[in-house]
Amino acid sequence: MLVLGIESTCDETACAVVRDGNTILSSIVASQEVHASLGGVVPELASRHHVETCIPVLEEALKKAQVTLQEIDLIAVAKGPGLLGALLVGLNFAKGLALGLNKPFIGVNHIEAHLYSALMQQEVPMPALGVVISGGHTALLVIHALGHYQLVGETQDDAIGEAFDKVASLLNLPYPGGPEIETLAKEGNPHRFSLKAGQIKKRPHDFSFSGLKTGVLYLVKGQNALKGGALHISEEDKKDVAASFQKAALEDVVFKSLSAATAYGCKSLVVGGGVSNNQRLRELYQEHSSLPVFWPPKGLSLDNAAMIAGLGYWDYLKKQKSDPFDLEPLPRIPL
Ligand code: KG4
Ligand code: ZN
Repeated sequence: MLVLGIESTCDETACAVVRDGNTILSSIVASQEVHASLGGVVPELASRHHVETCIPVLEEALKKAQVTLQEIDLIAVAKGPGLLGALLVGLNFAKGLALGLNKPFIGVNHIEAHLYSALMQQEVPMPALGVVISGGHTALLVIHALGHYQLVGETQDDAIGEAFDKVASLLNLPYPGGPEIETLAKEGNPHRFSLKAGQIKKRPHDFSFSGLKTGVLYLVKGQNALKGGALHISEEDKKDVAASFQKAALEDVVFKSLSAATAYGCKSLVVGGGVSNNQRLRELYQEHSSLPVFWPPKGLSLDNAAMIAGLGYWDYLKKQKSDPFDLEPLPRIPL
């Protein structure tokens, strides 16, 4: 079965063609550069760029896969969570194609798809502890089987990727901040500043990153922090701030996820979402985990449409019918 995947939840416009849930024939991602100097994603600009980019990206995905639209059997689209306007563009694009071609379409959960990207091409021992770490989400879930999840921890405030982006912005680095912080941290001393992620009383597997972010704010702006004052640290100090922040944020994810894996009798860990691109995170799991850890294949950590097409295949097999044309975008859905 040939599935066309469409992804437009945030600032990536992506289309992919995937056969039978796991053979990727093409995966094209157009990242919107416009937000880089604006400190974060501007929703209205994101929607407009999706409108302009979706058709060229689709054409490229079909060409690379060497298939025609008529050969596609199913259209899978991210229905949420994400930015409302951005989701509307992708969802209506998918509905238009489905209607015009008389093909079924199916709405896929973007967060579940992030986990699926690591399951897509590898045999993972279950139950597995799923670790979702993206710009919008931070959650721990026990994966009993595809489609059967138990939420065991989540962030009470900022998502981890959001914290990377905000700290990068404080250091005057462009959006997205995660890769910038990782690069800077390589030259810094992670032990220089004592920074810590939050712990939630009686909820040992929940997260809190807003205090960590405020800690960095005071560190780099001192007494002027709330007045929007200038940075009072040198370029060299910035490297140590990035390294100390990254250590605090990543170790928190690693230790809480390993503790949850033990508490819930998991046989492996599955990591997904943009922050899983971080190489230091991979080293930390290597250093500390006695369980096998599964990662998305190259190119599938950040937002992409191959994970949407792949998961859409299984969702459709389960349902055996197209979603209705009144399916709305769902900016905030749980798994
Ligand atoms: O999964 P994703 O592409 O989009 C969402 O669903 O949110 O994740 C994007 C997030 C951004 O916050 C970005 O800064 C972060 O992933 N990110 C990283 C790295 N690469 C991307 N964070 C830390 N280290 C990285 N190398
Ligand atoms: Zn994502």
